[in-house]
Amino acid sequence: MTTTTALDLDAFWMPFTANRQFKQTPRMLVKAEGMHYTSDDGRQVLDGTAGLWCVNAGHCRPKIVEAVRKQVGELDFAPTFQMGQPRAFELANRVSEILPPSHKHVFFVNSGSEGVDTALKIALAYQKAKGEGGRHRLIGRERGYHGVGFGGISVGGIGNNRKTFGPLLAGVDHLRHTHDLTRNAFTKGLPEHGLEFAEDLERIVALHDASTIAAVIVEPMAGSTGVLLPPKGYLQRLREICDKYGILLIFDEVISGFGRLGAPFAVDKFGVVPDMMVAAKGLTNGTIPMGAVFASDKVHEAFMTGPEGAMELLHGYTYSGHPVAAAAGIATLDVYREERLFERANDLAPNWEDTMHSMKGLPNVIDIRNLGLVAGIELASIPGKVGARAYDVFVRAFKKGLLIRTTADIIALSPPLIIEKAQIAEIASKLSEAIREAA
Ligand SMILES: Cc1ncc(COP(=O)(O)O)c(C=O)c1O
Repeated sequence: MTTTTALDLDAFWMPFTANRQFKQTPRMLVKAEGMHYTSDDGRQVLDGTAGLWCVNAGHCRPKIVEAVRKQVGELDFAPTFQMGQPRAFELANRVSEILPPSHKHVFFVNSGSEGVDTALKIALAYQKAKGEGGRHRLIGRERGYHGVGFGGISVGGIGNNRKTFGPLLAGVDHLRHTHDLTRNAFTKGLPEHGLEFAEDLERIVALHDASTIAAVIVEPMAGSTGVLLPPKGYLQRLREICDKYGILLIFDEVISGFGRLGAPFAVDKFGVVPDMMVAAKGLTNGTIPMGAVFASDKVHEAFMTGPEGAMELLHGYTYSGHPVAAAAGIATLDVYREERLFERANDLAPNWEDTMHSMKGLPNVIDIRNLGLVAGIELASIPGKVGARAYDVFVRAFKKGLLIRTTADIIALSPPLIIEKAQIAEIASKLSEAIREAA
């Protein structure tokens, strides 16, 4: 086993981490298989978060590992600018089999953040291509998380992620968020109340005029901000208002995609089809970084005009459609299909819901919410110390052999879709102990 005790931890400036705190008492993972990590002190840690919402098929799946191994020895890299390699085309075709029929155009990127910025750029360029270049505004939502690029933090609505980075993109506005504990606490599945929050888009249109608005971007289920589910009918209403005013609708499905909600995508779960979808994470089971934008025929066709020798979209990344990532993606889709993991998530959802809601009544738990194989457990904050209580729970859970994720005082759970019922029970029992002790 890799020994980490002698490692110098200074050089790696860790992302979204309290570096000084972490490096005093590091938590190291050195191996993974199936539902578990192994920590550097040899303990098995049940993965309650699919890594970072990405390892939907479980860890180190032999088929995916083998596909990567084979690909890297066969064609390690080839450019996709004015050149092609089969894996990228193959993955685009394969993934489009599980996309809405109108969304068969796949633009590859390397992360969710790049996917978001790509979709925003496509939206602006689309409007210009349609002769509506005055539509330059992008509308996000409070508490939205769309990664860390300048586009993503501009439309994103998590104050702490924005406030130190200057004026951001011009012309961005935000819908109000939909979180409403007063009316919706401890709801199982979608909240009953809050459809009217979609009407906030009418307010924004009235303020700026539709002729200035290119696109609205939302997470159909907001994950990183702490599992905020869309009120019943909310996404449908956003779609209607966007249609009314010629505004593109973008769903950021970086978390909700690839089975997390018990369907291939949130689009399928909610029956609302946006103009573009952004995906990443589960696309390759987290094995190799990759993301994608799935564009509708309407969007794509707007670009396929002009001289044939002209590039239609002046955008792309060196690693767009990287062969090794694409090979991982193809094998991942095979595993999802062969093991019917999206259906499995759906089948497990009632047990997941009951088990998660069994934690109601624990000290400081002020809400539990769930959908598919996702749950959010909101804790009352210690006055003046937002996040401290959930962090305490996180550390205690890890010591008990359970990995959870926290944001402020919300615990987010999103296990690999291969989880067994006994392991769902184990999550609840370890987490309950940690919550009681932290109180
Ligand atoms: C909805 C959403 N969009 C975008 C991102 C950014 O993805 P990445 O970290 O791969 O850049 C995330 C990451 O958690 C996300 O949850």
